[in-house]
Amino acid sequence: PKNCIIAIDGYSSCGKSTIAKALAKRLNFIYVDSGAMYRATTLYFLRNGIDWHNHDAVVEALEKVHIELHLENDQTQVLLNNEDISQEIRQMPVSLSVSKVSAIKEVRKAMVALQQKMGKTKNIVMDGRDIGTTVFPNAQLKIFMTAEPLIRAERRYKELAANGETITVREVLDNLKDRDHADTTREESPLRKAEDAIILDNSHISPEQQLEFVENLYMNWT
Ligand code: C5P
Repeated sequence: PKNCIIAIDGYSSCGKSTIAKALAKRLNFIYVDSGAMYRATTLYFLRNGIDWHNHDAVVEALEKVHIELHLENDQTQVLLNNEDISQEIRQMPVSLSVSKVSAIKEVRKAMVALQQKMGKTKNIVMDGRDIGTTVFPNAQLKIFMTAEPLIRAERRYKELAANGETITVREVLDNLKDRDHADTTREESPLRKAEDAIILDNSHISPEQQLEFVENLYMNWT
């Protein structure tokens, strides 16, 4: 193939984006955060009071959602209809609803089409839940990330607390368990390991060690 796709899937708050970003930088690939797209759509639905059980309302709303991702100083900048919503989509209201919105068939169809378009001509590292199974089943390298839930919750808690959110580890843990449950049990492209994905459990290894592991896999493939 002309271009190379690396798919990184896994549970919530596993550090997928950290490793995906570092890998993209090292290989000079483009990093795409697919979760940010579902989060942006969720924010649009919340702000506009869209009833996501109403098929027609969902379809109509999706036509009005324009999402752009830009990488700025190693951070993904997310634009929703030209407004920078990068911070807001990381906050709890969006985190509490995103797994419901992302389970909707029409939402997934729209996001997958957008993601596939991004991967058509460029070398990319994309992280998410269904990248290796649905979006790019022919990706050259697939990683499936996991870590112990409490370790994940503590890592995410530190990030949120550093950003000034008033929250407890328990709330973060509950949210990531709920999202994992919703993401793995939904009907439309549930989160699961692709048969040819390689498991990376990062409970007890550093980001540097993870990068080395994944980079070696890539080197062995090429
Ligand atoms: O990756 P992140 O945790 O930001 O994703 C937020 C949510 O978006 C996930 O919990 C999941 O419900 C949804 N998602 C998805 N498919 C993807 C990426 C994210 O369903 N490829």
